[in-house]
Formats: sequence, structure tokens, C-alpha cells
Amino acid sequence: MEFPEESGGIFTSGGSMANLTAIVAARENKLPEDHSNGVIYYSEQTHSSLSKALRVIGFKPKNMRKIKSDTHFRIDTNQLIQALEEDMKNGLKPFCIIGNAGTTNTGAVDDLITINEIAKEKNCWFHIDAAYGGATMLSNEYKKELLGIEKADSITLDPHKWWFQPYEIGCLLVRDKNTLKEAFTVTAEYLDDTVSNSGEINYYEHGVQLSRSFRALKLYTFFRCVGLKKIGADITNGIKNAEYIEKLLKQKQYWEIITKPSIGIISFRVKIFEDETENDKINAKVSKYLLEDGYAMITTTKLKGHLALRMCPIHPETRQEFLDKTFGIMNGYIENFTE
Ligand SMILES: Cc1ncc(COP(=O)(O)O)c(C=O)c1O
Repeated sequence: MEFPEESGGIFTSGGSMANLTAIVAARENKLPEDHSNGVIYYSEQTHSSLSKALRVIGFKPKNMRKIKSDTHFRIDTNQLIQALEEDMKNGLKPFCIIGNAGTTNTGAVDDLITINEIAKEKNCWFHIDAAYGGATMLSNEYKKELLGIEKADSITLDPHKWWFQPYEIGCLLVRDKNTLKEAFTVTAEYLDDTVSNSGEINYYEHGVQLSRSFRALKLYTFFRCVGLKKIGADITNGIKNAEYIEKLLKQKQYWEIITKPSIGIISFRVKIFEDETENDKINAKVSKYLLEDGYAMITTTKLKGHLALRMCPIHPETRQEFLDKTFGIMNGYIENFTE
């Protein structure tokens, strides 16, 4: 992630726990005494695990600001600035801004450079949820899509997504490892013997868990055995698969592209009726038909108020011929569709 030498982190059960760990670190760093008036900012496309984490750690609606996203589903930075200034005027204390490096819905990457500038100016912690998109950093061709990620105070990664690991392994990286220690160290007489002055890390001082499994082993073994070059090539291939789907969609006029491919995710919808509610229904039927057919599964999401189909073809064995066949099935269904 191009973080400095003094950076550090912890492996967690998944992205949700990494996000929770990050906002506790942010809160303890920026508002150590009293966080009752603290406010955290994130876009409406930010993953639900962050809203859940805020609830778990006791934040109320007055402490959370969901900012609108723009037409490309990236946080609207003008609205972000407005919200920050209004809150400061009202005596609240902005302490953290969350950026997305690959939203779950569309793969959108927020303007990380601008968010970082805003965060620095307002003395806020800058956390990036890269649970989905962070893996892109291993793709030489596409890592530029995440420009600015290296400026964050903390980054959530999720090796059990696009680094192909079995559940459970998430990861939180922090720019300065002391921030985790300051946030999570609690003493107890029965733990005194584990404390040493030799610089050894006690991971229970870096996160929520005391007893924990050796998650690092599987990721380390995978990196060493498969090699970062091959993993990066597989990630590049997944991104190219999504770009190939865009070409398939353009071959038929009844497909509408809702969001262009962005680091491996593309969303689209069938549009054959004037009435968009009718189009919602046929999109749901296409998804169901494909599931019943059994060859592929494409789930739906809601974008711009309507149902959309969403594909994230990043499995390392997914080839273009599989995508051709999937579209063959869907196109056949649509072209023979009768109500
Ligand atoms: C962007 C993003 N953040 C966080 C999460 C939560 O990660 P996990 O399911 O590993 O807890 C997910 C997906 O699940 C995600 O896509």
C-alpha cells in the first residue's frame, strides 16, 4: 500500500472487523477525552459494515453523516465540505472521513486525493475502506486507479475477497502502528508477563481480540507459494473480464450500462419497456432465470432507484468464453420474452 516504515496493522476476521478497529483507532486518536460531539463522514455508497460498526461502538445518528454520491457513485466532495463546515459551526467535532477504494455496488473509487486534502485541513483521520478494491494494488496495470490510497491514516483490506483466501481473514493497516497500540492497550495483572520492552508486538494491544488464530500463516504461505506476480496477473484478468462484459453489452440495444467497469465490477440492466417499473420486473426475472438455469448466477442491486444486474467476474479461472455463454443464455431469454 506504499505506507511508511512506521506503519503496522492487524489481521482480523474480515473487513467488517477491520473497519470497526479503524474507527476506534480514529476516535481514540482524534477525540481521546470525549467523543460525544464527534462526527464521522462517509458516502451513501459506503459499505453497511461501517454503519454497523458505528452502532456497535455507540455512535448516535447525530455523530454520523452520510454524504450524497455523484453520478459515478463517488462521494460528492463539495457536499462533504459543506457538511463539515456546518457541523463545525454548530459546535460538533468532525474527527474522521471515510473514503471508498472500490464500493461493493459498483466498484467506484472515491477521489482519494481530494478527500485526503479535506481531511488534513480539518484535522480528521482519513480511513479508506479498500476491502474490495485494495487487492488492485498488486496489478501493475491497474494500481493507478487507487492513486491517493497511500495517503490514508488507515486502510481496510480483505484478503478473503480478492486475494483468494478462505474465510476468515481481513486486515487493517495503519500509517503509524502506535495509533493502534494507544487505542487498544488495556492492562491486567494476569497479562503483565506478556509485556516486554524488547519491541515485540502483542497483537491483543492492536485490536479487539485477546486470543486469536494465526491468520497470517495462510496469506503468507499463499503469497510465497503462488507469488505476487501471478496473483497480480489474476487480478488484472478479473478487471479485464468486467471490461469484456461492457463489449458484450454494447452488442445488443436492449442492454443499458448503468456503471462502466470499475476495478472488476460492472452494472447494467435490460431496458425493453417505456415503464421503468416493468423494466425492474424483467431484470429480476433475468436474474431468476439464470439462477434456475444453473450455469451462472447474477444477483441484483438497486442503483439510481431501479433494479440493476451486477457482475464481478474476478474468479481467477473465469474466462471470456464463460461470459459469452452467460450472455448467450440471458440474451436468448430476453429475445424470446413474452409476458
Ligand atoms: C467494501 C466492503 N467493505 C467491507 C465489507 C465487509 O467485509 P467482511 O464481509 O469481510 O466483513 C465488504 C464485503 O463484505 C465490502 O465489500
